Formats: sequence, C-alpha cells, structure tokens
Amino acid sequence: MRILIAKSYEDMSAKAARIVAGQLYLKPDSVLGLATGSTPLGMYHELIRVHKEVGLDFAEAITFNLDEYLGLPPSNSQSYHYYMNHNFFKHINIRPGNIFIPAGMPGDVEAECCFYDRQIKEKGGINLQVLGIGVNGHIGFNEPDIKFEATTHKVKLDDETINANARFFKTIEEVPRFAISMGIKTIMHAKRVLLLASGESKGVVIYKALYEGITPTIPASILQLHQDVTVLVDEAAGSLLRRMQDE
Ligand code: PGA
Repeated sequence: MRILIAKSYEDMSAKAARIVAGQLYLKPDSVLGLATGSTPLGMYHELIRVHKEVGLDFAEAITFNLDEYLGLPPSNSQSYHYYMNHNFFKHINIRPGNIFIPAGMPGDVEAECCFYDRQIKEKGGINLQVLGIGVNGHIGFNEPDIKFEATTHKVKLDDETINANARFFKTIEEVPRFAISMGIKTIMHAKRVLLLASGESKGVVIYKALYEGITPTIPASILQLHQDVTVLVDEAAGSLLRRMQDE
C-alpha cells in the first residue's frame, strides 16, 4: 500500500487525475471504477481540463460507478447518474454505451445487481477503482457491518450516511434510505485501487482503516488486504497518517 499526503485538496485532485490519466495512457480501453461525492469533484475537474487542453482520450474507456440511490430517476439532480453526467461525462468524449451506473429505479433490484456484476466481468474486470471513504468508514455504500463477501447488492443506508448526505438535499427526509452498491468483493477484485480522502472529518476514519484491525465495522479496512492500493489524501485528512510516517 502506498500512502501519499498531498499539500492541499487541489494538489490531491491533480495527483489523482494524473494516476487516472496514466492508467488511460497505458491502456486506453481501461475499465475505470468511479466514485461520487464531494471528494472526487476536483479530480473530475482536472481530468476534464487534461482532456480539453492535452487531449486525454476517453473514446475507448469503460466506466462502472460504485453505487446509485434507489428511488431516484437519472433526471433527479441528486442521483448519481445526474452527478456523473453533469460533473464529468458530458465534458469528455466517453461513449454513452461504455458508461455503467446501477439503475436507480430498476424493475427487479436483484436482477439489476446480477446484471451489473456480469457486465463488469464481461468487460474484463476493473483496472483502476477510485474510492472515497465515508465518515463511518464505508466504501461505495458498503456500510459498517457489511459482509465482506458481498457482490453488487441492495443496501440500507446508515444513519450517519443519511446525515452526511443530507447536505445535498432540501430536507433530510428526501435522502433515499436504500441504494444499490458494488459489494466489497466486487471492489476487491479491481486490479488497482485509488482511495481518496479529503478534509479533517476523514482524518480519524482513514487512520483507523489503514492502521487498525481489519473489521466490518470499518469496511475500508479490508483494503489492507488488497495487493495494489494507493491512498491519496490531502493534508487535513492526513494529519494522523503523517504522524505514523514520521515515527
Ligand atoms: P464525500 O463522500 O466524498 O462526499 O465525503 C465520500 C463517501 O461517502 O464515500
């Protein structure tokens, strides 16, 4: 596991974008696993800049998002379909047919989950999975006490996640209670993982995930067992990590 502490959020975002761009330069038809939330916004911004100014090519790239709220159509501005299109996809030259995000309103949730995992397998598996981390240690929407062996599945969101995500909705009641998420097993099958964390509020959880025991109460801790993880944090999220590096 590599742990990199960037100077600032902007620096973290620029470095994350370089890692994703590097993956695409080496393998233009890479399968990228993508995340939503506040953390990767700067990375998407930088990737768009590199696409526009330097010609980073997404024509052959394939993407799979980690998760989607259940009950929100793609047109809802809080859905992750909307987020991805608005913050990334509409600004680059990715083919619409190469974009995969779990359906927010599937007729059959179980079938949608199986379909999603099958698609990932058929595209050859994820080459580089970008992850954020929740204040409760979740990755994707794999909430504390999740089963490590889970593949893509329906999840009930944790109260802490609902509270954390309420900032994006008018009222907390509007935050969906359920989602579809890639499971830990799906994530662990990715060949490379890039875990991002930004801000003071992530300092303790990222430390616990990396330096304390592997436990379902901190789902991100399972990444200690992955063979190719890069952890990239900004200074604010990395204060405890820095202390460990200095010791
Ligand atoms: P955030 O969310 O980037 O908005 O902090 C991360 C997460 O919940 O995984």
